[in-house]
Amino acid sequence: MDKWDERFSEGEYPTDPEPSPVLRAYVDTFPEGRALDVAAGTGRNAIFLATEGFDVDALDQSSAGLEIIRNRAKEAGIDDRVQTVLADATEFDYPESTYDVVTISYFRTLDKLGAIKTALKPGGVLFYQHHLQSSPPATVGPSTNRYRFQSNELLRACLDLTVLYYEESTEDRDGRTSATATIIARNSRGGTQSYPSRHWE
Ligand SMILES: C[S@@+](CC[C@H](N)C(=O)[O-])C[C@H]1O[C@@H](n2cnc3c(N)ncnc32)[C@H](O)[C@@H]1O
Repeated sequence: MDKWDERFSEGEYPTDPEPSPVLRAYVDTFPEGRALDVAAGTGRNAIFLATEGFDVDALDQSSAGLEIIRNRAKEAGIDDRVQTVLADATEFDYPESTYDVVTISYFRTLDKLGAIKTALKPGGVLFYQHHLQSSPPATVGPSTNRYRFQSNELLRACLDLTVLYYEESTEDRDGRTSATATIIARNSRGGTQSYPSRHWE
């Protein structure tokens, strides 16, 4: 059994993790339509986006995680807006120019990020958050720096997009420390670019 299947089946991972406050704050600025959540887990982003009206493809290699997503979608009455895709995100043949929104949370995939970005429609938006290397080391997330982003690594990987928001932050909660990099970037050139986006205007 895959280690994530095991974690999800044994309830070691939250079945209803909260979406990022940044995603919540910016979702109203995203183009409406179709969304892809890469390495969807138990549906942190997929369920949130479907609740917001998106038609969501939730992709993960764990069938146990995808089953949790399907159950959550059914319970929330949004199962007509959530499709699950059982696939390896590093091998998947991402369809070009298909999604208005692509989300990735806590899955390191810089090698495949170029292909994932081609799945964005023109004007489509990428939201990506992941664990960050920090000093002192964070206690939430991977125990080794190998699976964390270095400072600015995520930002550099998205400089072919229009960056709307970028943040590196450290948070202490319940005696544990997390360090996270978060980006929102649009598949577009020119126009305005500011970090954070002046979306309140
Ligand atoms: C830390 S969890 C994050 C899940 C979810 N995105 C979240 O934020 O709660 C990592 C997820 O990546 C998935 N995963 C790991 N390697 C993968 C791969 N090669 N292809 C697809 N999913 C993968 C695991 O099954 C797991 O669901």
